[in-house]
Amino acid sequence: GPSLRTLAESKGIYFGTAISQFDLGNATITGLASSQFGMLTPTNEMKWDTVESSPGNFNFGPGDRLVSFAQANSMKTRGHTLVWHSQLPSWVSNLPNSQVQGAMRNHITTTATHYKGKLYAWDVVNEMFNEDGSFRNDAFYRAMGSGFVADALRTARAADPSAKLYLNDYNTEGLNAKSDAMYNLAKSLKSQGVPLDGIGFQGHFILGQIPSSLKANLERFTALGLEVAITELDVRMPLPADGAKLAQQGRDFASVTNTCLAVKGCVGISQWAVGDPDSWVPGTFPGEGAATLYDNNYQPKPAYTATVNAL
Ligand code: XIL
Repeated sequence: GPSLRTLAESKGIYFGTAISQFDLGNATITGLASSQFGMLTPTNEMKWDTVESSPGNFNFGPGDRLVSFAQANSMKTRGHTLVWHSQLPSWVSNLPNSQVQGAMRNHITTTATHYKGKLYAWDVVNEMFNEDGSFRNDAFYRAMGSGFVADALRTARAADPSAKLYLNDYNTEGLNAKSDAMYNLAKSLKSQGVPLDGIGFQGHFILGQIPSSLKANLERFTALGLEVAITELDVRMPLPADGAKLAQQGRDFASVTNTCLAVKGCVGISQWAVGDPDSWVPGTFPGEGAATLYDNNYQPKPAYTATVNAL
């Protein structure tokens, strides 16, 4: 039947995937990525620790290889990510506060200029909030306060006016304290004319726990004139998988897909991997896994069929 990519595009959204430079050597992964997915997010290759591991020494090779793969297969690319507390080299977190803004601006300007015109979007800032909605006390916040977000967005816009600029976070999918903080920040940035185009909701879900308020939450952001996207979807389960869990996972993927289709301004969904073998879940959540649309042999799971049927 038609691919996920084709079905999604026929409904006016994209269905994407994340792949790493190492996946480029795996013909099974590249074959599925290019045939089934219309958007590529580099898993790690555009993060600060890869791009600028020491001050002013930029390494765009790995990211470039992924952008080339995407272009060769008529896929778009989401840039991920410019400013993030994690995978941040210690030379940045050890800078005196007075030097952090300069380092941040130089990193954004150099990176976004390098990829200018080649990206659908940038996750300009990733994961800036704690679960209670307060700002994460990272190097950027310590040096600049919450104003680092506006500064990062303005710097990115100046470097690449064609990339849509996103803020991206997790556990912001439903209505809660953390998504309230994201909403209040987005509203404030928009009212000040700060360049902000979209909000990314990572979507690292637990089996059977898609928030019932997902639609209402996405809609409050689109009401601000922003687009929204599910940027890193996976649905993890306690291992081993069984028929009942896989059926529930199918309902979960269908529910996310139906919600995006129902929200005007939800532009797409990206899964965080191609299949279970290349998913981050087992390494990060011990005892859990089977979180993607493809099984350990890259065969489509019930969630694949459910997603196709939802599209
Ligand atoms: C993960 C990658 O998948 C891993 O390979 C890496 O070791 C750590 O980062 N939220 C994000 C992603 O925004 O960048 C993370 O990716 C997963 C959680």
